[in-house]
Amino acid sequence: MSELNLILLGPPGAGKGTQAGRLTEDFGLPYIGTGDLLRKHVDQESELGREAKGHMDDGGLVPDDLVIAMILEKVDEEGDDGFLLDGFPRTVPQADALADELEKRGRRLTAALLVDASDECVFKRITGRRQCSDGHVYHVEFDPPKYDDKCDRDGKPLTQRKDDQPEKVKKRLATYHRDTEPLIDYYDERGLLRRFDGAQDKVKVHDHIRATLATLRLEERL
Ligand code: AP5
Repeated sequence: MSELNLILLGPPGAGKGTQAGRLTEDFGLPYIGTGDLLRKHVDQESELGREAKGHMDDGGLVPDDLVIAMILEKVDEEGDDGFLLDGFPRTVPQADALADELEKRGRRLTAALLVDASDECVFKRITGRRQCSDGHVYHVEFDPPKYDDKCDRDGKPLTQRKDDQPEKVKKRLATYHRDTEPLIDYYDERGLLRRFDGAQDKVKVHDHIRATLATLRLEERL
């Protein structure tokens, strides 16, 4: 099998995590979700978690050096035969660090998958999102659980993320436009960007990404 080294880009709430769950099953790729890893550190009150908490609660980004070290360690541990990175890189220095470190290991990125959607669309999605402690995600309107406030898969209570409140979401969107959006041109200039309309139904978005990845894998073999 050819190695797929992928990153998921896009505004908060565009559906990166939703698509990542499906794609890791389709392609057997290790999933490395930056936000999930950071939230675990916060819950465990590790040194990194204590440092990250304030930035996350405030809708800003965790400092580059901390996130870069955390993700590269994960890629080395789990990503030998390919990976799907969700939420990393989020700044140009993070993207440069990833490219340099992959090159040192004789590897390169296969593609940057941009799942895009308007601020209005993602605002509605994030504020209606609910999830259980194992990370199974629902939406009160677009993907409601069978029983209110309980996960269909494990019966655990569904809660709202602290940074999913309207005022926090506005800050996260401003951070995205300022710090992360420049990565669209960064990857486009390097011929790595693939765009997907995240405003579409999630099955359609999934079909489109899956077809693109199947083609990329074929091209990698040639
Ligand atoms: P992180 O957890 O990565 O959050 P995010 O990027 O803001 O993305 P979200 O998880 O909010 O959204 P998503 O795109 O995954 O959407 P989802 O699939 O859930 O990061 C959190 C924080 O950690 C950051 O703010 C930052 O502080 C810090 N951090 C993370 N990475 C960092 C980095 N590299 N550097 C520094 N700091 C970092 O979908 C949203 C909702 O919509 C769900 O309810 C879902 O059911 C629904 N939905 C999904 N797709 C569709 C669809 N097509 N149609 C209808 N509804 C849909």
